[in-house]
Amino acid sequence: MIVRRGRSEDLPWLVEHDDASEHWVGRCIQYGEYFVAEQDGEILGFLRFSRFWGKIPYMDMIRVPPSRQRTGVGTALFHAWEKAMIDDGAQHLMTSSEWAEAEPQAWHRRNGFKAAGSIDLRIVQPSPEIFFIKHISGESEE
Ligand SMILES: CC(C)(COP(=O)(O)OP(=O)(O)OC[C@H]1O[C@@H](n2cnc3c(N)ncnc32)[C@H](O)[C@@H]1OP(=O)(O)O)[C@@H](O)C(=O)NCCC(=O)NCCS
Repeated sequence: MIVRRGRSEDLPWLVEHDDASEHWVGRCIQYGEYFVAEQDGEILGFLRFSRFWGKIPYMDMIRVPPSRQRTGVGTALFHAWEKAMIDDGAQHLMTSSEWAEAEPQAWHRRNGFKAAGSIDLRIVQPSPEIFFIKHISGESEE
């Protein structure tokens, strides 16, 4: 398995497996905001990110299709993104997930994220959105 940035030829697969519009998927590919895991020419999962305040890397979405889950794909995607962000000089990573979804939260915590607060998003979903931060600068902030 290799992890690489998303490319234009990945667009159909990403449009099928991500929740974003085709326009947004194309835009994110163009700006290098996708990582995909690939094996024997087949895509196994993706990570899409943006930047909070235009600065702090923010993992908008990581998804591995059910048939491929729990085989190390998500971890490989996350590690590749984290390394790329460290190489880019980032000191923190951010992500979020819905309070009612225990599994994604457990996975974020497993990857070193800590909950940093929540916002009421009842206009679009039933439970609050919890934000997570991971410090990657190498300095302890406990
Ligand atoms: C969450 C997700 C990305 C994890 O990817 P994955 O490829 O299945 O995970 P991995 O195989 O790399 O798992 C690595 C470890 O995390 C554990 N793990 C996997 N999914 C987990 C989950 N949902 N909760 C807690 N632990 C989990 C695995 O058991 C494994 O532990 P081990 O090494 O001790 O056996 C994937 O399950 C997924 O796409 N889920 C649906 C979408 C989603 O919830 N995305 C996250 C919010 S945006």
